[in-house]
Amino acid sequence: MAYDFDKVYDRRNTNSLKWDFAEERHHSEDELPLWVADMDFPSPPHVVDAIVRSASAGFFGYTDPKPADKRIVSDWYKRRHGFYPDPDAIVFTPGTVFGITTAILAFSDPGDAVMISQPVYYPFSEAVTDNGRKLIRNELVRDDNGRYTFDFDSFEKQIAENDVKIYILCSPHNPIGRVWKKDELQRIADITLKHNVLVIADEIHADFIYEENEFVSYPSLSEETRKNTVLATAPSKTFNTAGLQISPIFIFDPEKRRRFKGVLGSEGYSQIDFLALAAMRASYTECDEWVDEVVDYIHENILYMENFLKERLPELKMTHPEGTYLTWVDFSGLGLSERELERFIREKAKLWLDAGFIFGKSGEGFERFNLATPRKIVEESLTRLERAVSELRKQ
Ligand SMILES: Cc1ncc(COP(=O)(O)O)c(C=O)c1O
Repeated sequence: MAYDFDKVYDRRNTNSLKWDFAEERHHSEDELPLWVADMDFPSPPHVVDAIVRSASAGFFGYTDPKPADKRIVSDWYKRRHGFYPDPDAIVFTPGTVFGITTAILAFSDPGDAVMISQPVYYPFSEAVTDNGRKLIRNELVRDDNGRYTFDFDSFEKQIAENDVKIYILCSPHNPIGRVWKKDELQRIADITLKHNVLVIADEIHADFIYEENEFVSYPSLSEETRKNTVLATAPSKTFNTAGLQISPIFIFDPEKRRRFKGVLGSEGYSQIDFLALAAMRASYTECDEWVDEVVDYIHENILYMENFLKERLPELKMTHPEGTYLTWVDFSGLGLSERELERFIREKAKLWLDAGFIFGKSGEGFERFNLATPRKIVEESLTRLERAVSELRKQ
């Protein structure tokens, strides 16, 4: 390995939301944070260099992307995922959620139905309800091994019955870690095209794929699918730059792109962030090796956690992630109520995790862990958990 991901950095006093905001977020300082989705590894050295170089000139004025900045995003997709999305389809926004929200505003009216598949990244539901759209909650189905799939009968029924206008696809899916197979994506495409439902495909986790799983970019399915897709991506998860705001959104249909740009303008957004652009250039052109290594490292973390739970905490059931750096664990075997579980995680295990219910009602009794962190921190978090469960077993 060229990079050392074992090294533990002290991220306290670095203005980190994950590490420095316990008080503001009503947590206690001694809870080990494995919640919000950023990594405890520094960004790739090429990204850091690019930012330092850019900053050292001392000018932070307006900037704009060049055509080459769009091509490097498409080139990354081609190199990593075998699909070259048309770079001319890109519209830059300050964030993936911002882009998704803009698409909701552009392609639906107040009161229109927008569907999501829960449990899912919770800002999706907020983007729908905060903008006066009607939220339709499609439920993924969990099998005995903890693996989730779509129930396409209910998926289509809910679309037809509610006259759904937009479906937000999370691919790979946070928090349950599925990397959707081509035939699953094709079913989504068939149903949404049949019912004239626009698909917003959030592929921000696409670079974290494990084992034999293969990521298929949703708009790669066909020309017809592309025209009906808003593809949201960002360098922020892959290169750990969530505090630098830039998110390329692909809108392949020119008429839809025009509409999207109109709404973006009405939101008061024009130029992109100066340092984010510098970081993105380095990210998509110089960091392939770093990404290969960080993905391998996180995969080892996942296997470590899975084995630990199997051997030492069999009451807890972890869904085996096919992608993303998040793990999803069923705590219902402890027999605690939702409130008891929250207190147990914070006060007994001394961990700061994302409680499952925030991802939807079916997430009750689950917790989400962020494993993009040095092995020592994973070990420490599991040791804390084991200690707390041992105490509980005695009661
Ligand atoms: C599925 C998904 N989409 C979007 C985001 C955040 O994207 P942004 O910070 O660009 O809004 C996250 C962050 O965890 C995520 O998991």
